[in-house]
Amino acid sequence: MKHLSIIGIGTGNPEHLTIQAVTALNAAQVVFVPSKGQEKAALLEVRRTIIERYATSAPPRVVEFEIPPRRGEAEYHAGVAEWHGMLADIYQRLIDDHLSDTERGAFLVWGDPGLYDSTIRIVEQVRARGECALEYVVVPGITSVQALTASHRIPLNLIGAPVRITPARRLATDLPEDGETVVVMLDGEHAFLRLTDLDAMIYWGAYLGTSDEIVIAGRLRDVRDKIVEARAAARSRHGWIMDIYAIRRENGAH
Ligand SMILES: C[S@@+](CC[C@H](N)C(=O)[O-])C[C@H]1O[C@@H](n2cnc3c(N)ncnc32)[C@H](O)[C@@H]1O
Repeated sequence: MKHLSIIGIGTGNPEHLTIQAVTALNAAQVVFVPSKGQEKAALLEVRRTIIERYATSAPPRVVEFEIPPRRGEAEYHAGVAEWHGMLADIYQRLIDDHLSDTERGAFLVWGDPGLYDSTIRIVEQVRARGECALEYVVVPGITSVQALTASHRIPLNLIGAPVRITPARRLATDLPEDGETVVVMLDGEHAFLRLTDLDAMIYWGAYLGTSDEIVIAGRLRDVRDKIVEARAAARSRHGWIMDIYAIRRENGAH
């Protein structure tokens, strides 16, 4: 039986790692890390730092693999399904070629493996193929949602109010009336500019947890241009951006 650990590593600060994650890392003989493109190079560096800093027993073998590009937004679900199939092929090869029958491998997943991440789904696909006996565990991590609220020193929810987490492409033009907090991730397009309620509060953050962290908060009418400018400047400085924001109607209530 081969074993895998899918380990949440937090969002860029090596100190986001939990003790459970460190224990799981030290139980692995092989660590699989994605490496491709400018964004992935920066994220690879964080993963390397984590391995160097926390792998205190015999250092694991590090195996890098390329993540193939996904097809465009027009056929979103078909594109994702096809992409997952390609990734399952890659994972299968990694497991076949680099893990012996008694070994444990680890995937170091950005943030938490349960939030907008497909590692669990892809490992399930590999298991469903039945080409090798495979068991796995999931170790939770600090999400970018938690990094955002901590950096802004805000509770995620208003008292008794719900929270919604959405990819930017699903953000509507109107915010809920009831104080629901809407957290927006995966925004390549300034989706907040669609919103019509300019009195709503936005809490924005980029590169959270890293030394490049930027945060901006305020009413949409006051800060949305500033966020657009900060985003463009950061993107041209780093060549890529990773940002997230929470929006809600507050009316003085926390
Ligand atoms: C594919 S999702 C992965 C989310 C991750 N599993 C988590 O738990 O946060 C990538 C999105 O997460 C958000 N994100 C991840 N890390 C971030 C960071 N350090 N700063 C700001 N946003 C981040 C961005 O919205 C980005 O587009």
